[in-house]
Amino acid sequence: MPDFSSSFKKGVFKILFQFSLLILNLMENDGIIMNNENKKKVSVIGAGHMGHGIAEVALLADYFVSLHDIDDEIINRGKSLIDWSLKKFVEKSQITEKKYEELINNLEITTDLEKAAENAILCIEAVPEKLELKKDIFRKLDEITPKYTILASNTSTMSITEIGNVTQRPDKVVGLHFPPPPVLARVIEIVRGDKTSDHTLNFVVNFAKRAEKEVIISKDSPGFICNRIMAPSMLLIQLMLDRNEYTPEKIDAAALNIGMIMGPYELLDYIGLDILHDSSKYFAERLSTDYSPSQTISKLVQDNKLGRKTGEGIYKWCSEGKRPIIDRSDPADFDVMDLMRVQINEAAKVLEEGVATVRDIDLGMKLHYHNPWGPFELIEHMDLDELTNFLDNLADKYGKEVFRAHDWIRNKSLLERL
Ligand SMILES: NC(=O)c1ccc[n+]([C@@H]2O[C@H](COP(=O)([O-])OP(=O)(O)OC[C@H]3O[C@@H](n4cnc5c(N)ncnc54)[C@H](O)[C@@H]3O)[C@@H](O)[C@H]2O)c1
Repeated sequence: MPDFSSSFKKGVFKILFQFSLLILNLMENDGIIMNNENKKKVSVIGAGHMGHGIAEVALLADYFVSLHDIDDEIINRGKSLIDWSLKKFVEKSQITEKKYEELINNLEITTDLEKAAENAILCIEAVPEKLELKKDIFRKLDEITPKYTILASNTSTMSITEIGNVTQRPDKVVGLHFPPPPVLARVIEIVRGDKTSDHTLNFVVNFAKRAEKEVIISKDSPGFICNRIMAPSMLLIQLMLDRNEYTPEKIDAAALNIGMIMGPYELLDYIGLDILHDSSKYFAERLSTDYSPSQTISKLVQDNKLGRKTGEGIYKWCSEGKRPIIDRSDPADFDVMDLMRVQINEAAKVLEEGVATVRDIDLGMKLHYHNPWGPFELIEHMDLDELTNFLDNLADKYGKEVFRAHDWIRNKSLLERL
Protein backbone atom coordinates (compact mmCIF):
# COMPACT_ATOMS: atom_id res chain seq x y z
CA MET A 1 0.00 0.00 0.00
CA PRO A 2 1.45 3.44 -0.90
CA ASP A 3 1.96 5.68 2.14
CA PHE A 4 -0.51 8.44 1.29
CA SER A 5 -0.07 10.18 4.59
CA SER A 6 3.71 10.66 4.05
CA SER A 7 3.36 11.81 0.41
CA PHE A 8 0.51 14.09 1.51
CA LYS A 9 2.80 15.61 4.19
CA LYS A 10 5.60 16.04 1.64
CA GLY A 11 3.18 17.77 -0.72
CA VAL A 12 2.00 20.13 2.01
CA PHE A 13 5.60 20.94 2.97
CA LYS A 14 6.47 21.62 -0.67
CA ILE A 15 3.52 23.98 -1.09
CA LEU A 16 4.32 25.76 2.20
CA PHE A 17 7.99 26.07 1.20
CA GLN A 18 7.14 27.55 -2.20
CA PHE A 19 4.55 29.85 -0.63
CA SER A 20 7.19 31.13 1.87
CA LEU A 21 9.61 31.78 -0.99
CA LEU A 22 6.88 33.69 -2.80
CA ILE A 23 6.10 35.78 0.29
CA LEU A 24 9.81 36.52 0.82
CA ASN A 25 10.09 37.51 -2.82
CA LEU A 26 7.05 39.75 -2.56
CA MET A 27 8.38 41.35 0.63
CA GLU A 28 11.63 42.08 -1.18
CA ASN A 29 10.25 43.33 -4.48
CA ASP A 30 6.52 43.94 -4.46
CA GLY A 31 5.80 47.41 -5.70
CA ILE A 32 9.42 48.45 -5.35
CA ILE A 33 10.62 50.14 -8.49
CA MET A 34 14.12 49.16 -9.54
CA ASN A 35 16.57 51.61 -11.07
CA ASN A 36 19.79 51.13 -13.11
CA GLU A 37 20.21 47.43 -13.80
CA ASN A 38 17.59 46.40 -11.25
CA LYS A 39 19.17 48.24 -8.35
CA LYS A 40 17.03 49.34 -5.44
CA LYS A 41 17.19 53.03 -4.67
CA VAL A 42 18.44 54.73 -1.51
CA SER A 43 17.91 58.44 -1.10
CA VAL A 44 20.16 60.61 1.10
CA ILE A 45 18.83 64.00 2.23
CA GLY A 46 21.58 66.52 3.02
CA ALA A 47 24.95 66.26 1.23
CA GLY A 48 27.20 67.83 3.88
CA HIS A 49 29.94 66.31 6.02
CA MET A 50 27.93 63.11 6.70
CA GLY A 51 25.41 62.93 3.85
CA HIS A 52 27.83 62.54 0.96
CA GLY A 53 29.70 59.83 2.90
CA ILE A 54 26.47 57.95 3.64
CA ALA A 55 25.63 58.15 -0.09
CA GLU A 56 29.00 56.55 -0.88
CA VAL A 57 28.36 53.77 1.65
CA ALA A 58 25.03 53.02 -0.06
CA LEU A 59 26.69 53.04 -3.51
CA LEU A 60 29.32 50.57 -2.32
CA ALA A 61 26.52 48.41 -0.88
CA ASP A 62 25.21 48.18 -4.46
CA TYR A 63 22.24 50.53 -4.38
CA PHE A 64 21.26 53.23 -6.85
CA VAL A 65 21.66 56.46 -4.84
CA SER A 66 19.98 59.82 -5.14
CA LEU A 67 21.74 62.52 -3.10
CA HIS A 68 19.76 65.64 -2.29
CA ASP A 69 20.64 69.02 -0.80
CA ILE A 70 19.10 72.47 -1.02
CA ASP A 71 22.49 73.96 -1.84
CA ASP A 72 23.80 73.44 -5.40
CA GLU A 73 27.41 74.06 -4.47
CA ILE A 74 27.34 71.58 -1.57
CA ILE A 75 25.74 68.88 -3.65
CA ASN A 76 28.30 69.26 -6.43
CA ARG A 77 31.10 69.22 -3.86
CA GLY A 78 29.50 66.08 -2.35
CA LYS A 79 29.62 64.35 -5.73
CA SER A 80 33.27 65.41 -6.28
CA LEU A 81 34.21 64.06 -2.84
CA ILE A 82 32.52 60.72 -3.59
CA ASP A 83 34.29 60.61 -6.96
CA TRP A 84 37.63 61.37 -5.30
CA SER A 85 37.09 58.71 -2.63
CA LEU A 86 36.03 56.01 -5.15
CA LYS A 87 39.12 56.76 -7.25
CA LYS A 88 41.22 56.23 -4.11
CA PHE A 89 39.66 52.75 -3.83
CA VAL A 90 40.73 52.12 -7.46
CA GLU A 91 44.28 53.37 -6.72
CA LYS A 92 44.48 50.95 -3.77
CA SER A 93 43.10 48.13 -5.98
CA GLN A 94 40.10 47.79 -3.67
CA ILE A 95 37.73 48.20 -6.62
CA THR A 96 38.31 47.93 -10.37
CA GLU A 97 38.09 50.82 -12.83
CA LYS A 98 34.98 49.12 -14.27
CA LYS A 99 33.37 48.97 -10.81
CA TYR A 100 34.19 52.65 -10.28
CA GLU A 101 32.38 53.53 -13.56
CA GLU A 102 29.41 51.43 -12.49
CA LEU A 103 29.21 53.02 -9.02
CA ILE A 104 29.55 56.61 -10.19
CA ASN A 105 26.82 55.96 -12.79
CA ASN A 106 24.58 54.78 -9.97
CA LEU A 107 24.79 58.18 -8.30
CA GLU A 108 22.30 60.93 -9.03
CA ILE A 109 22.43 64.38 -7.44
CA THR A 110 19.43 66.65 -7.23
CA THR A 111 18.08 69.70 -5.43
CA ASP A 112 14.55 68.35 -6.01
CA LEU A 113 13.44 66.44 -2.89
CA GLU A 114 10.57 64.70 -4.71
CA LYS A 115 12.88 63.42 -7.40
CA ALA A 116 15.39 62.23 -4.80
CA ALA A 117 12.82 60.35 -2.74
CA GLU A 118 10.73 58.96 -5.60
CA ASN A 119 10.53 55.15 -5.33
CA ALA A 120 13.33 54.96 -2.77
CA ILE A 121 13.32 51.83 -0.63
CA LEU A 122 15.17 53.76 2.09
CA CYS A 123 15.60 57.52 2.71
CA ILE A 124 18.39 58.58 5.08
CA GLU A 125 18.19 62.13 6.39
CA ALA A 126 21.46 63.95 7.26
CA VAL A 127 20.49 67.62 7.62
CA PRO A 128 21.68 69.85 10.53
CA GLU A 129 20.94 68.78 14.09
CA LYS A 130 17.73 70.85 14.45
CA LEU A 131 14.63 68.93 15.57
CA GLU A 132 12.05 71.12 13.79
CA LEU A 133 14.00 70.94 10.51
CA LYS A 134 14.20 67.15 10.76
CA LYS A 135 10.47 66.88 11.56
CA ASP A 136 9.67 69.05 8.56
CA ILE A 137 11.72 66.81 6.25
CA PHE A 138 10.08 63.65 7.63
CA ARG A 139 6.59 65.17 7.12
CA LYS A 140 7.47 65.84 3.48
CA LEU A 141 9.10 62.43 2.96
CA ASP A 142 5.99 60.77 4.41
CA GLU A 143 3.83 62.57 1.84
CA ILE A 144 5.98 61.93 -1.20
CA THR A 145 7.39 58.42 -0.75
CA PRO A 146 5.58 55.11 -1.31
CA LYS A 147 4.13 53.47 1.79
CA TYR A 148 6.90 50.84 1.86
CA THR A 149 9.75 53.36 2.12
CA ILE A 150 11.73 53.21 5.35
CA LEU A 151 12.68 56.63 6.70
CA ALA A 152 15.92 56.87 8.67
CA SER A 153 17.65 59.73 10.45
CA ASN A 154 21.38 60.12 11.01
CA THR A 155 20.68 62.31 14.04
CA SER A 156 23.37 61.93 16.68
CA THR A 157 21.18 62.86 19.64
CA MET A 158 17.51 63.48 18.84
CA SER A 159 14.38 61.43 19.53
CA ILE A 160 13.50 59.00 16.74
CA THR A 161 10.08 58.52 18.33
CA GLU A 162 9.30 62.25 18.13
CA ILE A 163 10.54 62.44 14.55
CA GLY A 164 8.52 59.32 13.62
CA ASN A 165 5.36 60.69 15.24
CA VAL A 166 5.05 63.46 12.63
CA THR A 167 4.57 60.74 9.98
CA GLN A 168 1.74 58.31 9.28
CA ARG A 169 4.31 55.47 9.44
CA PRO A 170 6.18 55.70 12.77
CA ASP A 171 6.73 51.94 12.52
CA LYS A 172 8.95 52.58 9.48
CA VAL A 173 11.05 55.32 11.11
CA VAL A 174 14.41 54.41 12.61
CA GLY A 175 17.78 55.94 13.57
CA LEU A 176 20.86 55.08 11.49
CA HIS A 177 23.71 56.84 13.23
CA PHE A 178 26.97 56.65 11.29
CA PRO A 179 30.30 57.75 12.76
CA PRO A 180 32.36 60.11 10.62
CA PRO A 181 33.58 59.50 7.98
CA PRO A 182 30.83 56.99 7.09
CA VAL A 183 32.88 55.18 4.44
CA LEU A 184 35.60 54.23 6.90
CA ALA A 185 33.23 53.69 9.84
CA ARG A 186 33.18 50.13 11.14
CA VAL A 187 29.88 50.35 13.00
CA ILE A 188 26.39 51.76 12.62
CA GLU A 189 24.33 52.59 15.70
CA ILE A 190 20.74 51.62 14.97
CA VAL A 191 18.18 53.44 17.08
CA ARG A 192 14.82 51.86 17.71
CA GLY A 193 12.04 54.41 18.27
CA ASP A 194 9.12 53.41 20.54
CA LYS A 195 7.08 52.47 17.46
CA THR A 196 9.81 51.14 15.12
CA SER A 197 8.70 47.69 13.91
CA ASP A 198 10.76 44.48 13.87
CA HIS A 199 10.53 44.52 10.08
CA THR A 200 12.10 48.00 9.93
CA LEU A 201 14.80 47.00 12.39
CA ASN A 202 15.64 43.86 10.39
CA PHE A 203 15.69 45.86 7.18
CA VAL A 204 18.27 48.34 8.47
CA VAL A 205 20.33 45.60 10.12
CA ASN A 206 20.51 43.96 6.67
CA PHE A 207 21.39 47.30 5.10
CA ALA A 208 24.28 47.65 7.59
CA LYS A 209 25.43 44.08 6.88
CA ARG A 210 25.32 44.74 3.14
CA ALA A 211 27.49 47.81 3.83
CA GLU A 212 29.85 45.53 5.82
CA LYS A 213 29.38 47.40 9.10
CA GLU A 214 28.98 46.06 12.61
CA VAL A 215 25.68 46.88 14.28
CA ILE A 216 24.89 48.12 17.77
CA ILE A 217 21.30 48.71 18.84
CA SER A 218 20.13 51.50 21.10
CA LYS A 219 16.83 52.39 22.74
CA ASP A 220 15.58 55.87 21.86
CA SER A 221 17.19 58.11 24.46
CA PRO A 222 19.09 61.45 24.11
CA GLY A 223 22.47 60.79 22.45
CA PHE A 224 21.68 57.04 22.27
CA ILE A 225 24.76 55.00 23.28
CA CYS A 226 27.83 56.69 21.85
CA ASN A 227 27.10 60.40 22.08
CA ARG A 228 25.45 60.08 25.48
CA ILE A 229 28.53 58.37 26.92
CA MET A 230 30.78 60.88 25.15
CA ALA A 231 28.74 63.88 26.40
CA PRO A 232 30.35 64.42 29.84
CA SER A 233 33.89 64.21 28.41
CA MET A 234 32.90 66.74 25.71
CA LEU A 235 31.52 68.92 28.51
CA LEU A 236 34.71 68.58 30.53
CA ILE A 237 36.97 69.73 27.70
CA GLN A 238 34.63 72.66 26.96
CA LEU A 239 34.82 73.72 30.62
CA MET A 240 38.62 73.43 30.57
CA LEU A 241 38.65 75.59 27.45
CA ASP A 242 36.42 78.24 29.07
CA ARG A 243 38.77 78.34 32.07
CA ASN A 244 41.91 78.43 29.92
CA GLU A 245 43.34 75.55 31.91
CA TYR A 246 45.50 74.25 29.04
CA THR A 247 45.88 75.11 25.37
CA PRO A 248 43.88 72.78 23.09
CA GLU A 249 47.07 71.82 21.27
CA LYS A 250 48.78 70.60 24.46
CA ILE A 251 45.76 68.48 25.44
CA ASP A 252 45.54 67.03 21.94
CA ALA A 253 49.28 66.31 22.03
CA ALA A 254 48.79 64.40 25.31
CA ALA A 255 45.96 62.39 23.71
CA LEU A 256 47.98 61.59 20.59
CA ASN A 257 50.92 60.57 22.74
CA ILE A 258 48.87 57.84 24.48
CA GLY A 259 47.80 56.46 21.09
CA MET A 260 44.43 58.16 20.45
CA ILE A 261 43.97 58.75 16.73
CA MET A 262 42.67 62.31 17.28
CA GLY A 263 42.78 64.65 20.27
CA PRO A 264 39.47 65.79 21.82
CA TYR A 265 39.63 69.41 20.57
CA GLU A 266 40.49 68.42 17.03
CA LEU A 267 37.57 65.98 17.24
CA LEU A 268 35.19 68.84 18.14
CA ASP A 269 36.36 70.79 15.08
CA TYR A 270 36.13 67.67 12.95
CA ILE A 271 32.54 66.93 14.02
CA GLY A 272 31.53 70.58 13.60
CA LEU A 273 31.07 73.10 16.43
CA ASP A 274 27.50 73.81 15.27
CA ILE A 275 26.65 70.11 15.67
CA LEU A 276 28.25 70.14 19.14
CA HIS A 277 26.40 73.35 20.05
CA ASP A 278 23.00 72.02 18.91
CA SER A 279 23.56 68.65 20.62
CA SER A 280 24.60 70.39 23.87
CA LYS A 281 21.40 72.46 23.80
CA TYR A 282 19.38 69.28 23.25
CA PHE A 283 21.12 67.51 26.16
CA ALA A 284 20.57 70.59 28.33
CA GLU A 285 16.82 70.45 27.60
CA ARG A 286 16.46 66.67 27.94
CA LEU A 287 19.10 65.48 30.42
CA SER A 288 20.52 68.27 32.56
CA THR A 289 21.16 72.01 32.22
CA ASP A 290 24.79 71.12 33.11
CA TYR A 291 25.18 70.38 29.38
CA SER A 292 24.38 73.93 28.20
CA PRO A 293 26.88 74.95 25.45
CA SER A 294 30.01 76.59 26.82
CA GLN A 295 30.84 80.28 26.31
CA THR A 296 33.82 79.63 24.03
CA ILE A 297 31.93 77.25 21.74
CA SER A 298 28.87 79.55 21.62
CA LYS A 299 31.09 82.47 20.59
CA LEU A 300 32.86 80.47 17.87
CA VAL A 301 29.49 79.30 16.48
CA GLN A 302 28.17 82.87 16.56
CA ASP A 303 31.22 83.93 14.49
CA ASN A 304 30.58 81.06 12.02
CA LYS A 305 33.86 79.43 13.04
CA LEU A 306 32.45 75.91 12.88
CA GLY A 307 35.69 73.92 12.59
CA ARG A 308 36.88 71.88 9.61
CA LYS A 309 33.85 72.68 7.45
CA THR A 310 34.40 76.48 7.56
CA GLY A 311 38.22 76.37 7.72
CA GLU A 312 38.40 77.67 11.29
CA GLY A 313 37.13 76.64 14.71
CA ILE A 314 39.27 75.80 17.71
CA TYR A 315 42.04 75.31 15.11
CA LYS A 316 42.71 76.87 11.71
CA TRP A 317 42.23 74.24 9.00
CA CYS A 318 43.81 74.57 5.57
CA SER A 319 41.46 74.80 2.60
CA GLU A 320 41.71 71.12 1.60
CA GLY A 321 40.45 70.15 5.07
CA LYS A 322 43.82 68.62 6.02
CA ARG A 323 44.27 68.01 9.74
CA PRO A 324 45.98 70.71 11.84
CA ILE A 325 49.60 69.95 12.73
CA ILE A 326 49.87 69.30 16.45
CA ASP A 327 53.25 69.74 18.16
CA ARG A 328 53.52 66.58 20.24
CA SER A 329 56.79 67.52 21.93
CA ASP A 330 55.22 69.55 24.74
CA PRO A 331 52.01 67.82 25.93
CA ALA A 332 49.85 69.10 28.80
CA ASP A 333 50.37 67.54 32.19
CA PHE A 334 46.82 66.19 31.97
CA ASP A 335 45.73 62.60 32.49
CA VAL A 336 43.79 61.79 29.33
CA MET A 337 42.28 58.82 31.17
CA ASP A 338 40.16 61.40 33.06
CA LEU A 339 38.05 61.62 29.89
CA MET A 340 37.54 57.86 30.04
CA ARG A 341 36.68 58.06 33.76
CA VAL A 342 33.72 60.38 33.13
CA GLN A 343 32.65 58.14 30.23
CA ILE A 344 32.58 55.08 32.52
CA ASN A 345 30.29 56.98 34.90
CA GLU A 346 27.90 57.86 32.06
CA ALA A 347 28.04 54.29 30.73
CA ALA A 348 26.75 53.09 34.11
CA LYS A 349 23.76 55.45 33.75
CA VAL A 350 23.11 54.22 30.18
CA LEU A 351 23.17 50.62 31.40
CA GLU A 352 20.86 51.38 34.33
CA GLU A 353 18.39 53.10 31.98
CA GLY A 354 18.32 50.01 29.74
CA VAL A 355 19.46 51.96 26.68
CA ALA A 356 21.78 49.18 25.48
CA THR A 357 23.60 46.00 26.42
CA VAL A 358 27.12 45.82 27.91
CA ARG A 359 28.36 44.33 24.61
CA ASP A 360 26.90 47.14 22.47
CA ILE A 361 28.15 49.85 24.84
CA ASP A 362 31.75 48.57 24.80
CA LEU A 363 31.73 47.78 21.08
CA GLY A 364 30.13 51.13 20.22
CA MET A 365 32.68 53.20 22.14
CA LYS A 366 35.57 51.27 20.58
CA LEU A 367 34.36 51.35 17.00
CA HIS A 368 32.52 54.69 16.93
CA TYR A 369 35.06 56.76 18.83
CA HIS A 370 38.15 54.56 18.36
CA ASN A 371 38.59 54.26 22.12
CA PRO A 372 41.16 51.55 22.77
CA TRP A 373 38.86 50.02 25.43
CA GLY A 374 35.15 49.94 26.12
CA PRO A 375 34.09 51.62 29.41
CA PHE A 376 33.13 48.31 31.01
CA GLU A 377 36.39 46.68 29.94
CA LEU A 378 38.23 49.51 31.66
CA ILE A 379 36.31 49.45 34.91
CA GLU A 380 37.60 45.97 35.70
CA HIS A 381 41.06 47.55 36.09
CA MET A 382 40.02 50.51 38.24
CA ASP A 383 39.91 51.16 41.94
CA LEU A 384 36.27 52.12 42.49
CA ASP A 385 36.97 54.19 45.62
CA GLU A 386 39.51 56.27 43.70
CA LEU A 387 37.10 56.60 40.78
CA THR A 388 34.30 57.75 43.11
CA ASN A 389 36.58 60.38 44.70
CA PHE A 390 37.76 61.60 41.32
CA LEU A 391 34.19 61.98 39.99
CA ASP A 392 32.88 63.67 43.14
CA ASN A 393 35.82 66.12 43.13
CA LEU A 394 35.20 66.92 39.47
CA ALA A 395 31.50 67.58 40.18
CA ASP A 396 32.47 69.95 43.02
CA LYS A 397 35.26 71.68 41.06
CA TYR A 398 33.06 72.60 38.08
CA GLY A 399 29.71 72.72 39.91
CA LYS A 400 28.29 70.07 37.54
CA GLU A 401 26.26 67.24 39.05
CA VAL A 402 26.49 65.21 35.82
CA PHE A 403 30.04 64.31 36.85
CA ARG A 404 29.01 62.99 40.30
CA ALA A 405 29.75 59.27 40.82
CA HIS A 406 26.90 56.93 39.91
CA ASP A 407 25.60 54.81 42.81
CA TRP A 408 26.73 51.55 41.17
CA ILE A 409 30.30 52.88 41.20
CA ARG A 410 30.03 54.32 44.70
CA ASN A 411 28.61 51.09 46.19
CA LYS A 412 30.81 48.93 43.93
CA SER A 413 27.89 46.93 42.53
CA LEU A 414 28.61 47.77 38.89
CA LEU A 415 30.96 44.83 38.32
CA GLU A 416 28.25 42.36 39.39
CA ARG A 417 25.87 43.80 36.81
CA LEU A 418 28.17 43.28 33.81
N1 LIG B 1 29.37 65.82 11.91
C1 LIG B 1 29.49 64.61 12.47
O1 LIG B 1 30.60 64.18 12.83
C2 LIG B 1 28.27 63.78 12.66
C3 LIG B 1 28.42 62.43 13.08
C4 LIG B 1 27.28 61.64 13.20
C5 LIG B 1 26.03 62.18 12.95
N2 LIG B 1 25.92 63.48 12.57
C6 LIG B 1 24.58 63.98 12.29
O2 LIG B 1 24.40 64.07 10.88
C7 LIG B 1 23.54 65.17 10.58
C8 LIG B 1 24.23 66.06 9.57
O3 LIG B 1 25.44 66.53 10.11
P1 LIG B 1 26.61 67.08 9.16
O4 LIG B 1 27.81 67.16 10.02
O5 LIG B 1 26.64 66.32 7.90
O6 LIG B 1 26.08 68.56 8.88
P2 LIG B 1 26.48 69.52 7.66
O7 LIG B 1 26.16 70.89 8.10
O8 LIG B 1 27.85 69.22 7.18
O9 LIG B 1 25.47 69.08 6.49
C9 LIG B 1 24.08 69.29 6.54
C10 LIG B 1 23.61 69.51 5.12
O10 LIG B 1 22.18 69.60 5.13
C11 LIG B 1 21.82 70.56 4.14
N3 LIG B 1 20.46 70.99 4.40
C12 LIG B 1 20.03 71.96 5.27
N4 LIG B 1 18.69 72.07 5.20
C13 LIG B 1 18.28 71.16 4.28
C14 LIG B 1 16.99 70.80 3.78
N5 LIG B 1 15.88 71.40 4.20
N6 LIG B 1 16.92 69.85 2.82
C15 LIG B 1 18.06 69.24 2.37
N7 LIG B 1 19.29 69.53 2.82
C16 LIG B 1 19.40 70.48 3.77
C17 LIG B 1 22.86 71.64 4.25
O11 LIG B 1 22.91 72.41 3.06
C18 LIG B 1 24.12 70.84 4.50
O12 LIG B 1 24.80 70.53 3.31
C19 LIG B 1 23.21 65.84 11.91
O13 LIG B 1 22.00 65.34 12.38
C20 LIG B 1 24.35 65.39 12.80
O14 LIG B 1 24.01 65.37 14.17
C21 LIG B 1 27.00 64.29 12.40
